[in-house]
Amino acid sequence: MEEIKKILSEAKSDIEQDVGLERLIEIKNLYLSKKGKLSVLINKMRELSIEEKKSFGKELNDAKAYVESLINNKMVELEKKKLNQKLESEKIDITLPPIDSHSGVANPFYKIIDEIEDIFIGMGYKVEKGPEVDKDHYVFELLNIPKDHPARDMQDTLYIDNETLLRSHTSAVQAHVMEKAKGQPIKIICPGKTYRRDDDDMTHSHQFAQVEGLVIDKNINMGNLKATLELFAKKMFSKDSKIRFRSSYFPFTEPSVEVDVSCFSCHGKGCNICKGSGWIEILGAGMVHPNVLKMSGYDPDVYSGFAFGIGIERVAMLRYGIDDIRKFYQNDIRFIEEFNKKVED
Ligand code: DAH
Repeated sequence: MEEIKKILSEAKSDIEQDVGLERLIEIKNLYLSKKGKLSVLINKMRELSIEEKKSFGKELNDAKAYVESLINNKMVELEKKKLNQKLESEKIDITLPPIDSHSGVANPFYKIIDEIEDIFIGMGYKVEKGPEVDKDHYVFELLNIPKDHPARDMQDTLYIDNETLLRSHTSAVQAHVMEKAKGQPIKIICPGKTYRRDDDDMTHSHQFAQVEGLVIDKNINMGNLKATLELFAKKMFSKDSKIRFRSSYFPFTEPSVEVDVSCFSCHGKGCNICKGSGWIEILGAGMVHPNVLKMSGYDPDVYSGFAFGIGIERVAMLRYGIDDIRKFYQNDIRFIEEFNKKVED
């Protein structure tokens, strides 16, 4: 019994030391494993009477249970301590101010295209795309501009070789779409980049963008064209926008018109945006020339159509008061952010 007490107090003082987890496991083995200091005392039983065995056995079991509970408590305490240390070392100071994050915004160029597409999709148009590097055949020939035609001078084209060029207008996509449609009705717009040999300044850029529109069906007339473009102007500029047609010339349309929108800034009174006239030129349009219809397999006695070509940057500049076309291509973040603020207002 004395020995149990002695080992018990030894174990107690061992456990009470400032021990770590590893040492605690060693202590557990030292006292409680099969050959541990307390466990081996069982061998003493042989020397005892039955009565003594009973009380000795109980004392020994109690001692072992006690040591085990001391170790378990210590274990819980150590684990708690370890967790607290971990929490302390991994602590995040949420009171620190965040680093100012800068989220990107869409380039105005694509925002305007989206806006134009939305307007025409709302009128039942499909959006088509065509190649930026194209053949003379599609950019000129099929649009009634043969090789020696003086209208080729209207467009300073960038040629890659005699037959291949960077398209100078999106009207080329008309020719591709008509070829694929094989005589079926068409109602499409095609936004895209175009290229010309121009010196860059505030209103000219060697790269710019257009949206071409083409409708071909039976009984399409100039009134349909006017109603379509007026709806576009009302949605793009102002609810009370009006348009007017001025007679013009394009080889691929007959008759051809230049289209003006009533000035959305002064409402016709005259200001510096409309240069005092009350009207602003926004696009070219017309009825598809019978030669163009014929070349693409449409019978001009059965089918008719209208087409229009809108300068995307010009519309954006007017709509948002941007004074320099080059700003669309310079990617100056200050311009892009300023533009996005205007769009949100
Ligand atoms: N392709 C012409 C240009 O680049 C614009 C244009 C005018 C397109 C009249 C058309 C149209 O479809 O009918 O200047």
